Amino acid sequence: MVEIVRFTDFLLEQTIVYSLWQAPFAADKFAPIATNNDLSKVKRVLDVGCGPGTNTRYFDHADYLGVEVNPKYVAEARRKFNREFVVADVTTYERDRDGGFDFVLVNSFLHHINLEETHRVLDRLRTWVSPDGYIHIIELTSPGDRSIAQLLADWDRGKFARPAHEWKDIFAQHMDIKIYQPFPVCVWGNPLWQLVYCKGSA
Ligand SMILES: C[S@@+](CC[C@H](N)C(=O)[O-])C[C@H]1O[C@@H](n2cnc3c(N)ncnc32)[C@H](O)[C@@H]1O
Repeated sequence: MVEIVRFTDFLLEQTIVYSLWQAPFAADKFAPIATNNDLSKVKRVLDVGCGPGTNTRYFDHADYLGVEVNPKYVAEARRKFNREFVVADVTTYERDRDGGFDFVLVNSFLHHINLEETHRVLDRLRTWVSPDGYIHIIELTSPGDRSIAQLLADWDRGKFARPAHEWKDIFAQHMDIKIYQPFPVCVWGNPLWQLVYCKGSA
């Protein structure tokens, strides 16, 4: 079983496999952000752990910077979008100047890093968001039951999915939470993943 999970991790590192795998679900994952915010008013976006540019298309009208550790994903993002992408490890990434992003997007990234790194990244994000801006986090939760959603969380490449209440405790230490909304991503009415949307200000 461990070998199968490692093999699927390897496959998902390949841009084409990841893009095909997430494509049917990407809009559903992004839906709470689209529903709760007027994206046409967004001015400057930082997309943290942006993958192959999964969510870049929502921000055609805004300044945009995607940061991603996998160079293959970044090459694909650059091929598809004429936007700025940086290959960097977000847990150690330094910016020349702080502040300035009114929309910091962290979609399905934090469950890839451990607790210490999560606190470090969230601390940094606070300094990168503008005074009128918000941090928008979509995260994978671990329901703690015998559901398919729990199985998929266990199999995920990111090894740090957490129960929704744990994520909330972590986020509350770094931001003033405006929205905290658990939601499922379903196929034919069956929840495959349990996620949470958190919107907060620094
Ligand atoms: C589940 S994917 C989400 C990608 C994209 N945000 C999306 O919504 O499809 C998690 C992403 O985080 C990236 N990642 C993992 N650890 C990272 C790190 N330390 N620094 C930057 N990116 C990282 C992975 O390479 C992957 O692209």
